[in-house]
Amino acid sequence: MTSLEQTVNKHDMEIESISRRDFLTTSAMWAVVTSMSFVLFGLLRFPRPALFPDIPKIFKIGKSEDYPLGSEKIFEEKKVIVRRDAEGLYAISLICTHLGCIVTKHADKFECPCHGSKFDDRGKVIAGPAPKALEWFKVSQLPDGKLVVDTMKRVPIGTRYGI
Ligand code: FES
Repeated sequence: MTSLEQTVNKHDMEIESISRRDFLTTSAMWAVVTSMSFVLFGLLRFPRPALFPDIPKIFKIGKSEDYPLGSEKIFEEKKVIVRRDAEGLYAISLICTHLGCIVTKHADKFECPCHGSKFDDRGKVIAGPAPKALEWFKVSQLPDGKLVVDTMKRVPIGTRYGI
């Protein structure tokens, strides 16, 4: 083999080597981009937690006469349900303790549409993945007779405001 042929062969091998490297690099980049696209698409479709930084922490819920025995009111924008039973008034959060989706009320339980957690009528977990019960908030009365719920003050399950 002449020196010229060797030079040409060496040059051809370099071109082939560079082409293969470029091809592999481009393929790897496309694989990463495609994978990231699937991840992003999956995240967008995943039920998003409900974060409500602008929800007032203390809000009025009316007067005691607005709550006859056995009544309940859902304050949707506040994500709270208020009920009255023989022991008094109580307020339960409608925000799931798993990732913050809003639970829906059924006859005697709450269900989370995001990952299937279920809570009994008092908010205790009956099916996961929620790690703990729905929160109960303090109910109190202002001097003018209006009742308020303070979502900054959690109370033990079963705590009532006697009216
Ligand atoms: S947010 Fe996951 S079960 Fe409610």
